[in-house]
Amino acid sequence: MYYIGIDLGTSAVKLLMTLKDGTIVGSVTKEYPLYFPHPGWSEQKPEDWVDAVWKGLKELLKGFDAGEVAGIGVGGQMHGLVVLDEEDRVIRPAILWNDGRTQKETDYLNQVIGKDVLSEETANIAFAGFTAPKILWMKENEPENFAKIRKIMLPKDYIAYRLTGVFSTDYSDASGMLLLDVRQKKWSRKMCEICGIDEAVLPKLYESDAVTGPVKPELAREFGFTDCVKVCAGAGDNAAAAVGTGVVGEGGCNISLGTSGTVFISSKEFKVDENNALHSFDHADGGFHLMGCMLSAASCNKWWMEEILKTDQYAKEQESISKLGENHIFFLPYLMGERSPHNNPDARGTFIGLSMDSTREDMTQAVLEGVAFGLRDSVEIARSLGISLTKTRICGGGAKSPLWRKIVCNVLNLEVERVASEEGPGLGAAILAMVACGEYSSVEEAAKAVVKVKDSEKPDPRLVSKYEEKYQQFKMIYPACKPIFDKIK
Ligand code: XUL
Repeated sequence: MYYIGIDLGTSAVKLLMTLKDGTIVGSVTKEYPLYFPHPGWSEQKPEDWVDAVWKGLKELLKGFDAGEVAGIGVGGQMHGLVVLDEEDRVIRPAILWNDGRTQKETDYLNQVIGKDVLSEETANIAFAGFTAPKILWMKENEPENFAKIRKIMLPKDYIAYRLTGVFSTDYSDASGMLLLDVRQKKWSRKMCEICGIDEAVLPKLYESDAVTGPVKPELAREFGFTDCVKVCAGAGDNAAAAVGTGVVGEGGCNISLGTSGTVFISSKEFKVDENNALHSFDHADGGFHLMGCMLSAASCNKWWMEEILKTDQYAKEQESISKLGENHIFFLPYLMGERSPHNNPDARGTFIGLSMDSTREDMTQAVLEGVAFGLRDSVEIARSLGISLTKTRICGGGAKSPLWRKIVCNVLNLEVERVASEEGPGLGAAILAMVACGEYSSVEEAAKAVVKVKDSEKPDPRLVSKYEEKYQQFKMIYPACKPIFDKIK
């Protein structure tokens, strides 16, 4: 039998077809546009996602017997606001996770409602990219659209809804809405009141590996499926990536170097960082996780390579970089503002320390190092909570670079393990489908059976100590720049 994992990303959707042992027999990527209608805004059209997924599925199934597909798991970008009216029409473009328009609503939630109330109700505080501030933004700025809302869903849930007709979400993705009581796994009535919505507009909650429904009969015919292909509730992309890298159960760590950069720490017990600098969310394995999220990670390097250096030769640009830990240039990676740890949509990217002898290589190196230092900020918060970390898995486009993995390893002083498949969230979504179809008895069992470590990079004490000094310098730059970011916005 085949299992399909869908990862609805920010620049493209990736679809994978796997066997039950995780062997990937096919994969397809389909891009779609990302719109920035105002500085700091970030939107996509849900219909573009559906088009891309439908085309992608047809391409993926070419040459295979679609009748052998048993299950589908959908994972994807978190926090995005998708709103439907009473005719199930999409009311406006989706407002994405990296959209920074809701500073006013975020401040209202954190300062007027109060961080204590938010943390009590949801285990988290408000960040500009979360869903609840976006609902408040619509209420204030688009009252006619707001009045039409009958269903609120997250990006991957819209795909699942179009596949099955079932209005569902899973706990890991719902955690990022600031509407879920993460510990009790139920919607917070108080947060619904604060946002001016009825709980009935929110989807039904499921565990990630639960079957929500079969693919609708007319679609099953279109794709050549049998009429009993099971779709499971799926997961937010970070939880799905953690499953796909085997970070399940107690104490695992996964770093994703994708458009965003995340540090994901899994746990069986509910944990919360008392300053709420790390997100406290449900995991797709039935447990919990803490997570720090940088809004721009591999996207910083993409911007530097493609927009500034006008090249797509990433490896070539990196091959002459050798003086690790000795760079005098620093880069603040806040090209879309920053979530963890600064919670500041007005933060901006910055190079500092340039001199006449600075080279192109030094600046490329500074970009890679700046992202690693940003990840270290989240790792430091976890360490301050008494969480002991010695190793991490890594996934995402940026993890393909051996140099970047080495930098991350030594900046974080963590052994960095790469798993055999680089398809973190897509593979995780397929694994969830396997569990939903009964191939394994739990997500933990499935991830342990399917995910294999390919190689590992161990910290070099000499580099760790050089980078320790550099990180202490990096930490001084954001506080010094913040008053300027406040003025130049
Ligand atoms: C996590 C987050 C991002 C998106 C990217 O909180 O906002 O990682 O999920 O797809």
